[in-house]
Amino acid sequence: MKILIVNGSPRGKNSCTMRMVAPLSEGMEEAGAQVKLLYLAELNPGHCRGCFSCWFKTPGKCVIEDGYNEAMSSCEGAELVVFAAPLYHFHMPGLMKNFLDRTITASEPWIIPDDKRDGISTHPVARRNTINSIMLVSPCGFPEVKHFKPYSDWFKAYAKIAGLKWTGEILRPMGELLRSEEMQPHLSGYFADLRDAGMEVVREGALRHETEIKLQRDLLKGGSEEFRALANNRFAKLLGHKQPEK
Ligand SMILES: Cc1cc2nc3c(=O)[nH]c(=O)nc-3n(C[C@H](O)[C@H](O)[C@H](O)COP(=O)(O)O)c2cc1C
Repeated sequence: MKILIVNGSPRGKNSCTMRMVAPLSEGMEEAGAQVKLLYLAELNPGHCRGCFSCWFKTPGKCVIEDGYNEAMSSCEGAELVVFAAPLYHFHMPGLMKNFLDRTITASEPWIIPDDKRDGISTHPVARRNTINSIMLVSPCGFPEVKHFKPYSDWFKAYAKIAGLKWTGEILRPMGELLRSEEMQPHLSGYFADLRDAGMEVVREGALRHETEIKLQRDLLKGGSEEFRALANNRFAKLLGHKQPEK
């Protein structure tokens, strides 16, 4: 099984996203998968210009010369794509959206009925495309998992529309704790579970629902309240003053 993990955090290798991806990909490799990591912060893909050259002039290739075509070629053969990016304004960061928009290079212009979805119109995906499933990995700043709802719903809908198997999601509220030095001694169990999740995806073809829920557990005993107090104390130190009374 060939897996492509797209890290869409602007923080790249220093991201909370990467803290999640590292043990996950280790587990995937241990279970026999070949994993390729793509850092969008390094690729820095520009936005799609909507010129449709990739359909009519340079089929399958984008005319923007920023390394996107080369990056895509190096990812050929991937069956599972893991979209790994933090929550920004209830959705994906612009970096990831730029990348996703550019993947229109993989489609052909023809408008055909999709027999699997009541004949609704769609574009055929080029034959060389091997991707058959997707997965979401994401940290967010707030302490409640509810913040992910629009993001998670969108990805599930996208999988369905694109005819791809939904392999599951790993959502991490209080994501910033993953980068906190003081937290590291308390995170070994969580990182071990991420590694197991990587093996599970490869061996079972998807994440079990109970694994998804387990990986959303509170990282602090005191839940949201403890997290807010911890975060606000840190902000007060950084700003040099407490939150003003209203
Ligand atoms: C522009 C911006 C928008 C954000 N929007 C949200 C949000 O809607 N909800 C949330 O919980 N966290 C939000 N965050 C916080 C990030 O999701 C959080 O810091 C995350 O851990 C960053 O992960 P990374 O290190 O992998 O980039 C936002 C951060 C930025 C910079």
